[in-house]
Amino acid sequence: MDREKFNTILRGYWESQILFAATSAGIFDFLNKKACTVEKIAEGLRLDQRSTEILLNALTGLELIKKYRGTYQNSPFARNHLVEGSGEPLTGFVLHNMGLWNAWGNLTSVMKTGRPSEGFAVKNYLTDKRSLYNFALAMHQGGIASSKEISLLFDYSSVCSILDVGGCTGRYALSIMESSSSDSVHVLDLPEMVREAKKIIRKTNREELKKIHFIEGDFFKVDPGMEFDLVILSNIIHSLGEKDCLMLFSRLRSWLTKNGRLLVHDMTVDRSGTKPVHAALFSVNMLVNTLKGKVYSEEEMLKLIRAAGMKRIDKKRTDAGKLVALCS
Ligand SMILES: C[S@@+](CC[C@H](N)C(=O)[O-])C[C@H]1O[C@@H](n2cnc3c(N)ncnc32)[C@H](O)[C@@H]1O
Repeated sequence: MDREKFNTILRGYWESQILFAATSAGIFDFLNKKACTVEKIAEGLRLDQRSTEILLNALTGLELIKKYRGTYQNSPFARNHLVEGSGEPLTGFVLHNMGLWNAWGNLTSVMKTGRPSEGFAVKNYLTDKRSLYNFALAMHQGGIASSKEISLLFDYSSVCSILDVGGCTGRYALSIMESSSSDSVHVLDLPEMVREAKKIIRKTNREELKKIHFIEGDFFKVDPGMEFDLVILSNIIHSLGEKDCLMLFSRLRSWLTKNGRLLVHDMTVDRSGTKPVHAALFSVNMLVNTLKGKVYSEEEMLKLIRAAGMKRIDKKRTDAGKLVALCS
């Protein structure tokens, strides 16, 4: 640890808040049209001019925008990721992370009580439509690239029926469907989430709605009413405690056809629980946002899968280092 690294840790939230404020104020969308002076930006977005100039200069220092001869414009990164309708949008992630601010502010109290009071999955998950929409958008945007990668990792050609559990907008199911023998998929999610997911699909590619059969319900209670050749469980395990993971793995196993397989995709930590650092930090995100969630190690996850009766496990890693386990 050196002083520079320490300073980054000390003030990391300054940078996050600058990004959040710029996104909510609409600065990246505004600058998408053309380079503008601070006066034009403040007037166009109805912002205080002094505050706007200070923020714009900091955004320039962070390389999110550029300053040239007294005007500001988006950096190539902002153009590609931070503008509504851009090529590879990350706007959902920005808005979702912005919504987690209060939960993170309660970390000290969670250390004492062991229980989050503000957390995403605890308080505003189902009641606040805006945060639910932003969460769904983040999952949708994140799933676009990684689902394509996962669809190339294994041979799915014999798969005729697919269920995406906690599937949100169904990115993983739809990508895998392309390399399977199926032309539609089932996506199971909570009714409130299905509503938001449908809004996103209507906006981005309405035709996809014809290929998705949504099952609305709680994955701990619902009966899907049929068996599947492939059940996908992507980015769910980290939000659950061990008992719930085991219960869910056992339930999903019972939804498989004779040769059916369960695909588990999730982040992992090493045996020490400390690396990679982004996964150890994500575990804290689960601490402040869920009741029992954490990032599991590969060994812990495979032990739970085996305990649920699945003995054959083919494992791969994505470029981002996430575990993809095909189990039966
Ligand atoms: C972190 S997101 C993962 C979304 C998607 N699988 C992906 O990998 O991008 C968790 C999803 O699980 C859903 N979910 C959480 N608890 C659930 C439950 N008890 N029953 C059904 N779905 C649930 C959430 O609504 C959300 O869509």
